[in-house]
Amino acid sequence: MELQRDAQPEIMPGLGFGTYGRQGEDGISAILCALETGYRHLDTAQDYDTEAEVGEAIRRAGLPREALFVTTKVRPANFGPGDLVPSVARSLETMGLDRADLVLIHWPAPNGERPLSDYIPQLAEARAQGLTRHVGVSNFPVALLTEARALLGDVPILTNQVELNPWFRNRTLADHCMGAGIRVTCYQPIAQGRLGGDPVIARIAARHGATPEQVALAWELAQGYAAIPTSSRPEHIRGNWQAQQLDLSPGELAEIDALNRGRRSIDPDWGPAWD
Ligand SMILES: NC(=O)c1ccc[n+]([C@@H]2O[C@H](COP(=O)([O-])OP(=O)(O)OC[C@H]3O[C@@H](n4cnc5c(N)ncnc54)[C@H](OP(=O)(O)O)[C@@H]3O)[C@@H](O)[C@H]2O)c1
Repeated sequence: MELQRDAQPEIMPGLGFGTYGRQGEDGISAILCALETGYRHLDTAQDYDTEAEVGEAIRRAGLPREALFVTTKVRPANFGPGDLVPSVARSLETMGLDRADLVLIHWPAPNGERPLSDYIPQLAEARAQGLTRHVGVSNFPVALLTEARALLGDVPILTNQVELNPWFRNRTLADHCMGAGIRVTCYQPIAQGRLGGDPVIARIAARHGATPEQVALAWELAQGYAAIPTSSRPEHIRGNWQAQQLDLSPGELAEIDALNRGRRSIDPDWGPAWD
């Protein structure tokens, strides 16, 4: 299959492909399918054990490196003094890349057991050493985001990757990020494929001849957020990509906004104090 050769994305593409669970040969096939479909933004993490699969799929796709936007995340075990930068270098080696496009702090230190001043400056150092073009955070509530920005000074936080979907609106944090010029990246953007059970989403989907997942993704993209759904199945990978063609009316967007149930699904007891 002839792959489209895009120009280098200047900023993070809005619709990316998550790689949690995409391990082994099946995982490589799914990531390759995503690249063949048109996804150019891949999301991995030291904790997912999919960095090697991401690298292998990129090599098999034969796309120029500059056409891609690759994100990885540093696990809290690598936050100690002098540990973070070498861990990013190891991630790059595992992926077979010279540089990442974005490196995120995956979670604030569990139970706040380390101050941000231990690890946020190391993130800036990884960027200064050319190991990544951009830096960002994940699962950071407003208070920690504010502290991280102060520690980073001139180095911008490109994104805060957080749980957000029609059932978990996360509005306080999302509004704060967008107001501060920090892109929101939605994880679990399709609520793990469970949104079909929502009558409002099902009705809107039927009206457009779309899937519930396309409706959720189109709603997130319409807010200016990025979203990184994953799937093991080619039909879902391709279908989710088509969400970019779906235009929802202002009334439909408002209806989806009202579906918030306010319950996050990823909520470890060692996690931060959420907003
Ligand atoms: N920063 C963080 O702490 C964090 C936390 C969680 C996730 N993430 C990132 O976000 C990505 C996405 O989150 P996620 O994997 O938890 O959840 P998700 O993308 O919301 O849901 C994935 C699930 O939905 C199913 N699915 C996908 N497309 C579908 C469709 N069109 N119709 C029906 N079912 C569909 C998939 O099953 P099939 O395989 O059968 O399609 C899979 O089980 C992850 O891969 C990871 O990169 C980050």
